[in-house]
Amino acid sequence: MKVTINSLERLDEFAQEFAKKIRAGDCICLKGDLGAGKTTFTRLVLSHLGVKENVSSPTFAILKTYQGKFVFHHFDTYRIDADEAIEAGFDEVLAEKDSVKFIEWSENISSLLPSHCINVNIKIIDENTREFEILCED
Ligand SMILES: Nc1ncnc2c1ncn2[C@@H]1O[C@H](COP(=O)(O)OP(=O)(O)O)[C@@H](O)[C@H]1O
Ligand SMILES: [Mg+2]
Repeated sequence: MKVTINSLERLDEFAQEFAKKIRAGDCICLKGDLGAGKTTFTRLVLSHLGVKENVSSPTFAILKTYQGKFVFHHFDTYRIDADEAIEAGFDEVLAEKDSVKFIEWSENISSLLPSHCINVNIKIIDENTREFEILCED
């Protein structure tokens, strides 16, 4: 499923629809260049799932955890690889049964990902426009 989104208002509507489909244990892999909108999309989806806190980029912390309708783990693994992720105990977090994971730069830890992920691929079209592609592995 591919959709072109030309404003943050449209993105918020799309995030609301996406949020309705999230179930306990889901793992969402966000792919796209720097500035594509991985963090922005995660922030909007979480806001529709009861997270009141401001969701900011986890780049420096690598992992931030929020409580809403589910426990949410928001990863940004831009600066680490699978071995470093294991050292930090992230493999155990990723194996949790009920929490929902959002992972930016998941390609860096691909060997640790659960087998069924929802892939969100974001392409920059122009300053305010993005193409979102949602692919569910089965
Ligand atoms: N249609 C859009 N979808 C997503 N982000 C958009 C869109 N239009 C503009 N932006 C802007 O692009 C930037 C995306 O940044 P961010 O979410 O931090 O990207 P990433 O996490 O992928 O590096 C934000 O400043 C956001 O406001
Ligand atoms: Mg980001």
